Amino acid sequence: MFVGGKGDMAEKRSTYRALVVRERGKGSFVGQVETLNFAQLADDEVLIKVCYSSLNYKDALSAAGNRGVTRRYPHVPGIDAVGVVEKSAGGAWRPGERVIVSGFDLGMNHDGGFAEYLTAPEEWLLSLPAGMNFEESMSWGTAGFTAAQCVAKLLENGATPQRGRIVVTGASGGVGSFSVALLAKLGFEVVAVSGKDEGHFLVDLGAVEVLTREAFLEASGKPLLQEKWAGAVDTVGGGYLETAIRQCSYGSTVTCCGNAASADLHLSVYPFILRGVTLAGIDSARCPVSRRTALWQKMAGEWALDQLADLVTVITLDELGENFGKILAGMIRGRVVVKMV
Ligand SMILES: NC(=O)c1ccc[n+]([C@@H]2O[C@H](COP(=O)([O-])OP(=O)(O)OC[C@H]3O[C@@H](n4cnc5c(N)ncnc54)[C@H](OP(=O)(O)O)[C@@H]3O)[C@@H](O)[C@H]2O)c1
Repeated sequence: MFVGGKGDMAEKRSTYRALVVRERGKGSFVGQVETLNFAQLADDEVLIKVCYSSLNYKDALSAAGNRGVTRRYPHVPGIDAVGVVEKSAGGAWRPGERVIVSGFDLGMNHDGGFAEYLTAPEEWLLSLPAGMNFEESMSWGTAGFTAAQCVAKLLENGATPQRGRIVVTGASGGVGSFSVALLAKLGFEVVAVSGKDEGHFLVDLGAVEVLTREAFLEASGKPLLQEKWAGAVDTVGGGYLETAIRQCSYGSTVTCCGNAASADLHLSVYPFILRGVTLAGIDSARCPVSRRTALWQKMAGEWALDQLADLVTVITLDELGENFGKILAGMIRGRVVVKMV
């Protein structure tokens, strides 16, 4: 029997609900909300009562049985969560502390945030920054944090609004929409590339122009194209990343974080050796805690987005399953946040 909470909030319960993905026959995976027992949670980690989680692309890969993401099933996906510490085996966190847990192996090979409770090693946790509530933190979630990392990288490498326009691919998705909104907030002219009919949404987020995928993609194979961008946030990979790099102006940076379109990259070295273009890889799972903490503070403070509510659809644990296929098909607009209570 688990005894959780403090004072008036005390509650006694032996079970909790979680979305569990099980392998049913060869290559077939099914995710269902199940009732699990606290006894199966690790007792040498921090126990967290989850308030919100969020849907990320990687969660859908895990739910679909992608062994590159999750090796063993049954498994609870969910690469991020926010909640309240109930118990900390090592004592590093106090009961009642409000924490974000994301990245590392959460939701991959360690049960994740699609559950009313989870456990995690204490070094995976961050304090929820002041000025940010539970729902806001998972509205950003891993995708928003990744957008913040992409934007931070452009700024660190010298991008300024005066140097020219920034192009964002996969612009209506999680990383893309947060990148558009954040860059626009920081004064950049942002050109959004999207395959959806979401022009109004992207303009409302701050894009000065919206291009269809076809209008953006350049498949001539020329090693260098006319210089159009002072930087790029690519979230889809393949030909989109290739086009962005070949169109970027002297000294600019292109961030690469995803491969929804393709993991392949066919390029010559010319954008790098003749234009000094930097290709910056972005990883959120193993991002060092010091950088992680600094960026979350910014997201809660000077980078806070007025349009946060417009970027998000809030669902329950029971509604998650139907959204896995949608995110894999690139059909989600903005972010999907999972409310546990
Ligand atoms: N490196 C990291 O640490 C990290 C962290 C988070 C995410 N990621 C990766 O970043 C990528 C984006 O994540 P996300 O959360 O933003 O996913 P998402 O919400 O599904 O957005 C991806 C967007 O890319 C576009 N897209 C999807 N499939 C496409 C295709 N076949 N061809 C061209 N465009 C396509 C769609 O936007 P439009 O309809 O607007 O074109 C889609 O909405 C994923 O690959 C994810 O795994 C990496």
